[in-house]
Amino acid sequence: MKQYDVRKSGRRRFLRDAVAMTGAVAAGALLPAVTRAQSAKIRLGVMLPYTGTYAQLGLAIENGLRLALEQGGGKLGGREFEIFKVDDESEPSKATDNANRLITRDKVDVLIGSVHSGVAMGMIKVAREAGTLLVIPNAGADAATGALCAPNVFRTSFSNWQPVHPLGRVMAERGHKRAVFITWKYAAGEESLASFREAFTAVGGTVVKELFVPFPNVEFQALLTEIAALRPDAVACFFAGGGAVKFVKDYAAAGLKDKIPLYGSGFLTEGVLAAQGDAAEGLLTTLHYAESLDNPKNKAFRASYLKTYKTHADVYAVQGYDTGLLLMQALDKVGGDVGNRSAVIAAMEAAVIDSPRGQWKMSKAHNPIQDIYLRRAEKGDNKVIGVAWKALEDPARGCKL
Ligand code: PHB
Repeated sequence: MKQYDVRKSGRRRFLRDAVAMTGAVAAGALLPAVTRAQSAKIRLGVMLPYTGTYAQLGLAIENGLRLALEQGGGKLGGREFEIFKVDDESEPSKATDNANRLITRDKVDVLIGSVHSGVAMGMIKVAREAGTLLVIPNAGADAATGALCAPNVFRTSFSNWQPVHPLGRVMAERGHKRAVFITWKYAAGEESLASFREAFTAVGGTVVKELFVPFPNVEFQALLTEIAALRPDAVACFFAGGGAVKFVKDYAAAGLKDKIPLYGSGFLTEGVLAAQGDAAEGLLTTLHYAESLDNPKNKAFRASYLKTYKTHADVYAVQGYDTGLLLMQALDKVGGDVGNRSAVIAAMEAAVIDSPRGQWKMSKAHNPIQDIYLRRAEKGDNKVIGVAWKALEDPARGCKL
């Protein structure tokens, strides 16, 4: 009896589903295939940190992205879009699950994320397996556009190799020969250090000590004591977000600021200068953006961003904005047909982005070829004092695109 019921209800369900499917096919058959594919909204999966030391970075990226899309008329290639958000907590161990959920549950057409290199590595794994388009609006993991480069993986920010590479030369030119590098112990810190070491030793410098704290810890005291004892000519570092505020303040409070000059990749002073106060005054950093860049695009962008979000734009906002510009450019070119993957990829490869950071385009490995600026922190502003490296392209080691 029981068995019969199950079979009966199973058969009923089959019949009901078959009717529903026939209805759907019949309705769909009235529409040409392209119209059918394009009538739905484009689904964007945004995976960023909204909690923890990188929370402000995630928010700035989302703000920048939304600003570009709104300025573009609120559509992508003529189609409406919908954003699905996940707080990735800068937690690499949750990255593949989070990315998979966006793809299988929310059925996103494009994945956008993230800030943390370890999280981005998880997203790359998922995107490579699923074939989903991935745009990285921050994370610098060298492999993303190096050994693990892929046709469907693009980056609108930088590789970890890029911003610190010019720093080695800048510091050598300023007469420093013995440097200490201090950072968080994870990919972004380790790859920044490797790039700095490569550049600094090429011009005769020596990295006398490499110092690490686990991410996202901010207990710097013991290492600052060690730096004082080592007495190097200068210190270089990679820190960002909340951790960068604490490090810059602790460095000054330890009495090191006027004794041993501190340099960094420009993330050290991005979006955090107000919180760092006097402790940041005079710091020299290298980065692919500076708020004081004197070009009309940057001025207009900064004014709209301030008006919309009541806060100043930083490099993360620019990277989010450029992600929006890239998607709009590519989807306009393919008339919103996001399912035509090879055409979307070709359009993204050919894109020229008129960015607040200055115009840039994609390298063969899908990473921005861009100028790196030398900046000095002055009264709450990162002032451009020169171009540290013109049109710097990541070496894309191991990329076979
Ligand atoms: C990274 O993890 O790749 C990362 C995070 C924050 C930054 C830059 C790079 O500001």
